[in-house]
Amino acid sequence: MSSARRRLQAVQNALMTVHKGTIPDGTNFLVLPDGKRVEMSGEPGTSDQHLLLDGEPVCLLRFSGRTAVLTLSGLGTPHEHTASHIPHYPVLEVHVVRTSDQRINLPDMWTIVYALFTKYHEQETIPIVLSAYITNGADLRSYILRSGLGRVSPSPDISQEYLFLMRATFWQGAGQAGFHERGWLPPSDFSSYALSPFPFVQSFTRTPLVIAAHPLRPPKPKQGEVLYKRYCPTVGQTLDFTYFDLGSGEGVSAHLEAFHRWHNDERVSKGWNEAGSLQKHVEYVKGVLNDPSVLPIMMSWDGELMGYAEIVWLKENHVAAYIPNGAKDWDRGMHVLVGEEKFRGSDRAQAWFRSILHYYFLADPRTERAIGEPRADNAAIVKVCLDASMHIETIFDFPYKRSAMTCVSRERFFKMDVL
Ligand SMILES: CC(C)(COP(=O)(O)OP(=O)(O)OC[C@H]1O[C@@H](n2cnc3c(N)ncnc32)[C@H](O)[C@@H]1OP(=O)(O)O)[C@@H](O)C(=O)NCCC(=O)NCCS
Repeated sequence: MSSARRRLQAVQNALMTVHKGTIPDGTNFLVLPDGKRVEMSGEPGTSDQHLLLDGEPVCLLRFSGRTAVLTLSGLGTPHEHTASHIPHYPVLEVHVVRTSDQRINLPDMWTIVYALFTKYHEQETIPIVLSAYITNGADLRSYILRSGLGRVSPSPDISQEYLFLMRATFWQGAGQAGFHERGWLPPSDFSSYALSPFPFVQSFTRTPLVIAAHPLRPPKPKQGEVLYKRYCPTVGQTLDFTYFDLGSGEGVSAHLEAFHRWHNDERVSKGWNEAGSLQKHVEYVKGVLNDPSVLPIMMSWDGELMGYAEIVWLKENHVAAYIPNGAKDWDRGMHVLVGEEKFRGSDRAQAWFRSILHYYFLADPRTERAIGEPRADNAAIVKVCLDASMHIETIFDFPYKRSAMTCVSRERFFKMDVL
C-alpha cells in the first residue's frame, strides 16, 4: 500500500469505525437477490480464479501482473506521471470458459463485477481487460461503458485499453435497470422507480404539523411487495425490505403481530413511545400506509422478520423545518427499530442501516441527501449513523426531544467503502 493510500485509509478510518475482518478477507461467495449463488474458487499455485454461478463456470479471472491507475485531474499537469496519491490497482483479465459459444451474457457480466467488488471492496476501481476470445467482447465493453459500470482512462498515451470498473457507480445500480433483473430492487411495478424516475410535478401537503410544496410522490407499492434485497457479506445473510402487509382483515398478519409485539417491548417503547393495543397499532399502520410521504417497511434476515422502519420524504415531514437551509425535493429520512433481540448488534446494525441509505439512493437518482434526526442521547443509533459515513449537521430541539441531525450526501456515501 502506498503511503498516500495509507493516509487516505487513515482518513476514512478516522471518520468511521471500519470493522476490519467483518467482511471476511478473500470473501469467496455471495448470494444474488434471485437466490443464485456465486463462488470464486482459486486454482492451486496460480492467481487464477474461476467464477461459478450455481456451480456453473462463468469466467476465469487472472491477474495480469500489471497495475493501472485512473488519473483524471492530474492529466496535462506536471503531476500526470508522478501522482502517487492515486491508487494503482492490479489489472485483471477476464477470460471466457470453454463453452460452445464463448460468450458472457450481460447479467453474468454484472455478476462478475458484483463478485469483484465484494471480494476487492476496498478498491475504488478495478482495471480489467476482456480477453479477445470472448465472442461478444465488443458488446460487453459497450455495456460496461454505456451503463457507467466502468470507464476508460482519458490519458492519450496508454497503449492498452483498460476498463476501470468503478465501485461508486456499481453500488449506484449501474448496469441493472434496463439491462437485466438481477439487481437489488426486485422486478415489480414498484421498481419502475429505478427504471424511470417519477416525473416532477408540484404537489402540496397541509397538516397540523406541515405546510409544504413538494414533488408529487409515486403511488405506494403493493402491501407485501419486496422493495430491496441484498446479501450482506459481513453478516452472511440476505437482508430484505418488504412493504408493510397489514393483511386482508381476517386474523393478524405476520407483520402486524411482530409490529405490535415489538412496540410493547420496553427498549423499543423508550425510542418510539408507541406501546399500546393491537387496535391502536392497526390504526397507526393504516395511517402510514395511507400517507403518500411514508413507506412503512419490515426488515428481515434470510426471510425472518427483525425490525421495522419508516422511510420518509423529508420535504413534507415536520423535520423539514429544522434542516439548515431547508429540505431539498428528494431528501429522505427514516425512523427505525430493531424488534428481535437476536438480530441486534453492531455488524447487523451497520448492514441494515447502510442498506436503508443505499435504498434511498437507488430508488430515485435525484435523492442527493439522506438526513436522520435521532435523539441526541441515543448513542447506539448516532454511532451507527457516523459509522455509515454520516456527519452531525447540527443539534436541535423538537418541542419534545433534543435531536442530532445526521447527514450524508450521495457523493460521500458512494465514495466510501460502506456496502
Ligand atoms: C437503536 C437501535 C436501532 C440500534 O440497533 P441495535 O441492533 O440494538 O444496535 P446495538 O445497540 O446492538 O449496537 C450499535 C452500536 O452502538 C453501540 N452502543 C449501544 N448502546 C450504546 C450506548 N449506550 N453508548 C454508546 N454506544 C452504544 C454498540 O456498542 C454498537 O457499537 P459497536 O459497533 O462499537 O459495537 C435499536 O436498539 C432499537 O431499535 N432501539 C429502539 C428504537 C430506537 O431507539 N430507534 C432509533 C430511533 S429512530
